[in-house]
Amino acid sequence: MSNISINNAIPENALERQLYFIEKCKEHVAQLKKELNRPLLCCTQTFGCQMNARDSEKLLGILEEIGYTPTDSEEADIVVYNTCTVRENANLRVYGRLGQLSKIKEKNPHMVIALCGCMMQEPDVVEKIRKSYKFVDVIFGTFNIFKIAELLYTHWQQAGQIIDIWDSTKDVVEELPTQRKFPFKSGVNIMYGCNNFCSYCIVPYVRGREKSREPKEIVREIERLVDDGVKEVMLLGQNVNSYGNTFEEPFSFAQLLREIEKIDGLERIRFMTPHPKDFSDDLIEVMRTSKKVCNHIHLPLQSGSSRILKLMNRKYTKEHYLELVDKIRDRLPDVSITTDIIVGFPGETEEDFEDTLDVVRKVKYDSAYTFIYSKRTGTPAAKMENQVPEDVVKDRFNRLLATINEVSHTISARYEGQSAKALVECINDHDSSLVTGRLTNNMLVHFPGDESLIGNIVDVKLTECKGFYYMGEML
Ligand code: SAH
Ligand code: SF4
Ligand code: F3S
Repeated sequence: MSNISINNAIPENALERQLYFIEKCKEHVAQLKKELNRPLLCCTQTFGCQMNARDSEKLLGILEEIGYTPTDSEEADIVVYNTCTVRENANLRVYGRLGQLSKIKEKNPHMVIALCGCMMQEPDVVEKIRKSYKFVDVIFGTFNIFKIAELLYTHWQQAGQIIDIWDSTKDVVEELPTQRKFPFKSGVNIMYGCNNFCSYCIVPYVRGREKSREPKEIVREIERLVDDGVKEVMLLGQNVNSYGNTFEEPFSFAQLLREIEKIDGLERIRFMTPHPKDFSDDLIEVMRTSKKVCNHIHLPLQSGSSRILKLMNRKYTKEHYLELVDKIRDRLPDVSITTDIIVGFPGETEEDFEDTLDVVRKVKYDSAYTFIYSKRTGTPAAKMENQVPEDVVKDRFNRLLATINEVSHTISARYEGQSAKALVECINDHDSSLVTGRLTNNMLVHFPGDESLIGNIVDVKLTECKGFYYMGEML
């Protein structure tokens, strides 16, 4: 009990402190359930990327631990929006949905509305919510997700809006309960933050400086996940290729993969996102020899124009990128390559855009996420002149989509008629006689099957490619 402060019995150690508040919340929730004579429901909504989704699992784990029952409906007793601010429309969605939430809250005086995540790291957003969205009860950011129980308890004690935003990592508390969305697969943070400062991107400002987790900690977390039924992990970082750069003793991402490969019972390893500027030969070699690392590389291009890439601060050129893809294809002939592309970065000319189309045609991506450039206040690109007119951007965006569809269809159909292993994830959304499985190249395959297959890796014949997915039959 050495860490207990004399005054109020609240432990000083960050983990013990949260366990203390979890107990306090448990008592409060149990009392409230008794009074209302019904279960209390909780709902978490993820607005952003895989890291955001992983954070939501941590939030849900704590909410369940303190006595809430999870639901997908926002007609709940606590609703947490885990926000994203990477593009303007992510923010707009949050404001839109907050209006609807306030109406639900009018009917349920016990309802707690909490906002957290990347958008909350922007001071003007928090100011706006403080002033104009007074019905929001708890506001926190990306660095103190683990504190939700403490913040909730403080809200119940003090009433009124509780705001707690940190500007960097102070404590990292990772040993708290989590609730995975899928029992058989999980995201695993291998690093936090980003040091790249691509000129369009807000992530380094809202997620802070890059910090890698110790290999031993990561391996231990995955071993525990595997004991709990996980077959596939997705290693998460904004730039996994710079994993280990902050360590005193060098330890590369490729080395980390070698360690994770050794974990008995783990069947598949994915990772996201590698940055093209430092994709090492060693990483390609690990992928070539590994039995577990999946046959897929998400390799964000952003732009095919070396001039724009320089303005974006991406630190590679069109030629470097194409050489890297050639090298990857040479050593991993079967690998699927997908990408992210931004259209309409400030100053992008028709010629620059043609370079992007040229790369798309040359690389023949399996699929690509395409984004219209969104101006993010505080980033260098927001101050650049020559913002591209909306109609020009829209026209380029449509032409890009058409080109991607053209090249992707033939490349993704290359497995037609073959058999492959699929990890069955769920019953098909549209037809309950089908299940949906994921191939090692990250494509989905739909085939006849039932619930008992979920979480299993099965052999499937890929009978027909329908663009970005397959129809199949179990063998
Ligand atoms: N760390 C990852 C990207 C994370 S953000 C990487 O470097 O690849 C995911 C994607 O959002 C980016 O790849 C980029 O294509 C897109 N994006 C980021 N900022 C954007 C902006 N301001 N406007 C439009 N798209 C953006
Ligand atoms: Fe953003 Fe670039 Fe960091 Fe990716 S690498 S998160 S695009 S700054
Ligand atoms: Fe992810 Fe959006 Fe934050 S993309 S890191 S949730 S700004």
